[in-house]
Amino acid sequence: MYNISVIGTGYVGLSTGVCLSDMGNNVTCVDIDEEKINKLNNGQVPIYEPGMEELIEKNTNANRLSFTTDLKKAVKDTEIIFMAVGTPSNEDGSADLSQVREAAKTIAEVMDDYKIVITKSTVPVGTNQMIEGIIAENTDQDYSVVSSPEFLREGSAVYDTMNPDRIVIGYRDEKAGETIRDLYKDFDTDFVMTTIESAEMIKYASNAFLATKISFINEMANICERVGARVEEVAKGMGLDHRISDKFLNAGIGYGGSCFPKDTKALINTATEVDYDLKTVKAAVHVNEYQKLTVVDKLQGHLYDLKNKNIGILGLSFKPNTDDMREAPSLKIIPKLLEGGANVKAYDPVAMENAREELPSDVEYCSVSKEVTEEADAVVLLTEWDEFFELNWKEISQKVNNKLVIDGRNLLNEDHLKDLGFKYISVGRGS
Ligand code: UDX
Repeated sequence: MYNISVIGTGYVGLSTGVCLSDMGNNVTCVDIDEEKINKLNNGQVPIYEPGMEELIEKNTNANRLSFTTDLKKAVKDTEIIFMAVGTPSNEDGSADLSQVREAAKTIAEVMDDYKIVITKSTVPVGTNQMIEGIIAENTDQDYSVVSSPEFLREGSAVYDTMNPDRIVIGYRDEKAGETIRDLYKDFDTDFVMTTIESAEMIKYASNAFLATKISFINEMANICERVGARVEEVAKGMGLDHRISDKFLNAGIGYGGSCFPKDTKALINTATEVDYDLKTVKAAVHVNEYQKLTVVDKLQGHLYDLKNKNIGILGLSFKPNTDDMREAPSLKIIPKLLEGGANVKAYDPVAMENAREELPSDVEYCSVSKEVTEEADAVVLLTEWDEFFELNWKEISQKVNNKLVIDGRNLLNEDHLKDLGFKYISVGRGS
């Protein structure tokens, strides 16, 4: 059992803190955002994440988990300090490390004995060395810095934190590496004990690879549409080769979220800094931007003119089971539809509140999913929420102006929709 503090209560920090407490450790989660901490202390979770609320309740009741804005006290009482602050993109695509610098300085200033500072935030190669430098400048105490990047997915953050494919531990000081290895001793998974620089690279290389895999299958889908092949069957046939695997081969309207867009750009930026032209990842980013707008092209192809057309949008978040709108394809697609003169009605089970802050004000939000389909000239599915699969398409077919469905995620039952007389357009299914 360890005394741990976690700085930053975003997806990564909160999942790390909550899961470490559930493993029996004493955890204090710290954030400068008072409103967030007040919410958490009242049992409210600031993000939508299945399973999180129950775990917070369980572990706060067991007095193993607490939330505070008092960084000084949290650091003083703990031997291991997890850093999980945000690293958003700068204008030029590089990672903005100001929160990391600030946190490292504050930790150093309040340190009163040996501490292990472990970085969970996704940070470019060289950042942990920078953190070591900042701590050294601001304290006389002993410390070790460890890099242990996080690979959790939003929407399954708790499950992924508890069931990781691997745990990467980058360290310089043997004892610190062993302590963190011991912290995770109950995990039945592969451990990668490595250098700090390799640990930093593993995170970026993994995300860049996955983003490239998605862009690759999306391009295959675009070809399939033109040559009369079906991308799911192509992906299945490819994925049976263990070297390829069938994971992350779902064609769609491009990746979004807080990681792939940001991390691909940051890796390109790191490469540029060392005078290297990272061609594959640049291409993956380029394809992803193109892919989002294939929905608009398909709509235009079938409706000819978007002006005054009623478009019903199902799903706004970048993927299901999250209210996260960061880099969601809907943020690119909906403004294009409005620019073309369309009337847009939209529905999302949980992301509408966040969407209102990001999307133009002329979007009309509906309180139930079937409302977006009423009098629609086209229904467009952008996020594969389960509830859209359950919709009564027979009933919908009687209320639309035009039986056109564009499925950006290949979620719906193609045969059923076609039997009902819909013109059903999906991704990568040529005829
Ligand atoms: C991702 C990584 O999976 C995770 O390891 C890392 O820590 C953070 O970034 P996340 O962004 O939460 O996690 O979601 P993920 O489920 O990986 O999906 C990312 C995006 O790729 C979504 O927009 C999703 O729709 C898209 N995607 C994913 C596809 O288009 N096709 C696929 O086959 C898989």
